[in-house]
Amino acid sequence: MSRRTLIAGNWKMNGLSGALGYFDAVAPVAAQAAADILVCPPATLLYPVARACEGTRIRVGAQDCHAHQSGAHTGDLSASMLRDAGASHVIVGHSERRADHGESDRNVQAKAAAAIAAGLVPVICVGETLAERESGEAIDVVARQLAGSLPDNSATVDLVIAYEPVWAIGTGLVASPADVADMHAAIRERLPNPATTCILYGGSVKPANAAELLSLADVDGALVGGASLDAADFSAIIRAAGS
Ligand code: 13P
Repeated sequence: MSRRTLIAGNWKMNGLSGALGYFDAVAPVAAQAAADILVCPPATLLYPVARACEGTRIRVGAQDCHAHQSGAHTGDLSASMLRDAGASHVIVGHSERRADHGESDRNVQAKAAAAIAAGLVPVICVGETLAERESGEAIDVVARQLAGSLPDNSATVDLVIAYEPVWAIGTGLVASPADVADMHAAIRERLPNPATTCILYGGSVKPANAAELLSLADVDGALVGGASLDAADFSAIIRAAGS
């Protein structure tokens, strides 16, 4: 079975309602794209972005969800709320949340399971630190994160994996093509549904390096941070995935 390329933008904690003109620029590019396109704005913009993207090929994702669907969790948002606001996907286990909020693999697994239960596709993030890469442990670390973060029913559901080396995020540093290909192959062989699961690369993906990264074996797309904030840069990355 074939996998469709996915180009996803993660706006992180950026974007106010004045930013919606972005979609006027990106929607025509998405319409011509060979890839599926996903934009993950902050939760405050999910509903307006979903409205702005109606009738386009851009799908909308959230950046995190709670592990429960409702309850006494002040300030949190459940996967069913995100779906209700127009999301089709949700990022879980991003390294910034693992670092800033102490999220463990077990938390990430519970969030991914909640996403699936609510009808969302989880984008499960994994990736090693620089110290782990330099000590030769990168594949072991990512394998452990993957084993701990994949929900039990992973073989039968739609999910996406994003490999984002922590040291490559927001730094302008990119893993070497050989290291990306090795890691993606290592991830693929550990997936319950290897033929159909998309594995994205993330970490300083830019218009200048997107085509090479997307051409690597087992790289099924990109999770783009900083460059996704700029409509021209994100459009160039979408074009790099072919038309
Ligand atoms: P940058 O593309 O800014 O490095 O961010 C990557 C990322 O964390 C996407 O989730």
